[in-house]
Amino acid sequence: MPPIVEIRNVSGFVGQEVVVQGWLYNLRESGKLLFPLFRDGTGIIQGVVVKSAVTADVFARVRELTQESSVRVTGKVRADQRALGGFELDVSDVEVLQLIPLDHPYPITPKEHGIEFLMDHRHLWLRSVRQRAILGVRHEIIKACRDFFDERGFTLVDTPIFTPAACEGTTTLFEVNYFEDKAYLTQSGQLYNEAAAAAVGKTYCFGPTFRAEKSKTRRHLTEFWMIEPEVAFAHLDDAMTLAEELIAFVVERVLARRRAELKALERNVAPLESCKLPFPRLSYDDAMKILQEKGSEIQWGGDFGGTDETILSEKFDRPVLVHRYPSQVKAFYMAPDPARPEVALCVDVLAPEGYGEIVGGGERLADYELLVKRIEENQLPRQAFEWYLDLRRYGTVPHAGFGMGIERVVAWICGLEHVRETIPFPRMLYRLTP
Ligand code: 4AD
Ligand code: MG
Repeated sequence: MPPIVEIRNVSGFVGQEVVVQGWLYNLRESGKLLFPLFRDGTGIIQGVVVKSAVTADVFARVRELTQESSVRVTGKVRADQRALGGFELDVSDVEVLQLIPLDHPYPITPKEHGIEFLMDHRHLWLRSVRQRAILGVRHEIIKACRDFFDERGFTLVDTPIFTPAACEGTTTLFEVNYFEDKAYLTQSGQLYNEAAAAAVGKTYCFGPTFRAEKSKTRRHLTEFWMIEPEVAFAHLDDAMTLAEELIAFVVERVLARRRAELKALERNVAPLESCKLPFPRLSYDDAMKILQEKGSEIQWGGDFGGTDETILSEKFDRPVLVHRYPSQVKAFYMAPDPARPEVALCVDVLAPEGYGEIVGGGERLADYELLVKRIEENQLPRQAFEWYLDLRRYGTVPHAGFGMGIERVVAWICGLEHVRETIPFPRMLYRLTP
């Protein structure tokens, strides 16, 4: 029995008989020759079936293969400069695991389909070259984030999904029944990260987060994944440096390891290659001047809209760190700037090429009295925050951190129009299936 080989590894088996397990991607016929394309999740290889070289049975079996029928193919690997991927498979036998009948064909054909149709068939659409490339880049980005923090002495501390209170404002909470009580799906692991930072010094969490976002934009999901570091004794500047180093590390890693995927996505890599440290830093006040010059309606005190972020991020050739927004547009836990209490010690990182915010964070309010005041002003349920206030009662220290949305980063690095393709099964205002 020849060895079972993944298509990505066939280069090590030239001249040898191997078994490839996969699906029929496409089939071309030319007289006494059949050219089936097989994919196995690791790559695509063209098979060559010569009528005179195989039994009539094998030839007939390959000839009737339909798109996405599952197969186990035996053949000899041959190097060929002209071939897709550089190798071909001289097929000697094919075992058909399932033949998809012609009257009930695979729904996604090589022709153009509308986006809603593709989204409805997301469970199948994932098999396409393009979606597989995105999945590969997403995987690399997540791995790079994990490596970045692990190599710097951070401890991964998992934070809960069911939470008793809001972290990022009460308007985007998903409420769920929790036995006789109510709970909310987490909007961010940050509050728990702050507890963990006091335990281990440098921590991060990585998990799904939920926002009942009523906005139907190309940047918003209702369920998205966030990586969130939190560091004891850190200030705003430390958080900014950590964020830019993380982003530069992630971009460099993807460029080093996922060129093939970026190519499949037709991503122009030049803008990614210019993402070198340091990134520009811009105060909210200076950002405001740029926006007003460009004709934005925004006034001091307002939060940036999607268009404002796009204008700003198009101005720079690499991510830009915008710091010190007015406290009134930011979350209750933000520390005020001692030099200017009306602004918060916070930072948003905007990705270039118009992609907008990918990171939000900053320095936390470490003072007990002020935090109590903020909780009251924001009409948050005091009881649910008692444990959080304990962190300010028992050895409070300055600390800072941020959250980076994985899907926003995938969209930017892959050069995608919309976040719906950045996550395997997107959840949005009007989409809960498949
Ligand atoms: O700016 P946000 O709301 O910050 C926080 O949640 C902080 N508690 C994080 C922290 O300091 N630990 O969200 C952080 C990032 C955004 O910059 C964006 O990348 C992403 O999360 N994000 C979303 N991504 C997709 N869909 C949404 N609806 C998102 N909302 C935020
Ligand atoms: Mg934000």
